[in-house]
Amino acid sequence: MIHLKGVKVAFGDEPLLKDITFSVSPGERISLLGPGGCGKTTILKMILGLLLPDAGSIELMGHNIVTMTSDTEKRKVLRRVGMAFQQGALFDFMTVRDNLFFAMEHMTEFTKIEMDRRVKFLLEAVKISRTENQYPFELSGGMQRRVGIVRALATDPVVAFFDEPTSGLDPVTSTIILNMISALAGKSAEQAMVVATSNVEIAIRFAERVVVINEGRVVADGPWKKLLLEGTPWVQHFLGVRLIGLDEEYAKELNLPSHFVERHWRH
Ligand SMILES: Nc1ncnc2c1ncn2[C@@H]1O[C@H](COP(=O)(O)OP(=O)(O)OP(=O)(O)O)[C@@H](O)[C@H]1O
Ligand SMILES: [Mg+2]
Repeated sequence: MIHLKGVKVAFGDEPLLKDITFSVSPGERISLLGPGGCGKTTILKMILGLLLPDAGSIELMGHNIVTMTSDTEKRKVLRRVGMAFQQGALFDFMTVRDNLFFAMEHMTEFTKIEMDRRVKFLLEAVKISRTENQYPFELSGGMQRRVGIVRALATDPVVAFFDEPTSGLDPVTSTIILNMISALAGKSAEQAMVVATSNVEIAIRFAERVVVINEGRVVADGPWKKLLLEGTPWVQHFLGVRLIGLDEEYAKELNLPSHFVERHWRH
């Protein structure tokens, strides 16, 4: 579904990404995890063809995104992709309903009746039905985020990306949003999903498989429980430090490996 190989990019003299290589299969869900500013958003932008890498190859649904020059062809591929941007990116001059309609009108062949049904269903699913005719500026940050996520899924994409879906939100709203993505997405077995985040807890709650980025490279790729116990010291530390701060009861909910729990909570 997605293949990146040896992807490099620099802004000015500063190399940001030095060698990014990973793949995502149809139906798979992964978390792209790394410290703030490590280049997660940049990677997503490159996968969507919004930014060209300096070197390396990027394939999306069998298309070579880097060499694709025709805008028409690019648009055709991107019609099957859903993206919830880190900054929301809703149209402020359109109501919630019109934001969702706009995406579906441009990216799908749905009829008006289908679109209407989908808007009602999706807003209901994320418990913000009454915002249908409101404008984004009238909504709280958490509500705007839900609209952004629902918009990414409204078009029933083959691949969906969620960039920091919960940053800046309180833990309760974060949990609601995460559960919502899981419930709404992945309806079709072929749908692949990528969450990019610097939040370890969000990453491991979203996906079994995490791809960890640091200093321009993929420094770990695998099931998070395995990485937590067997990753390089840096990876174990990066994952572990965020988790040992959690309350023990809460940590239990995350299903942390017993080894790890023994080591940090039983004295
Ligand atoms: N178009 C650009 N021109 C110059 N520098 C850029 C550009 N895009 C990103 N950068 C720089 O690249 C670095 C990584 O940015 P990016 O947004 O990809 O990181 P991130 O991992 O998504 O961060 P965060 O966790 O804060 O979302 C930042 O230092 C940023 O300033
Ligand atoms: Mg980012």
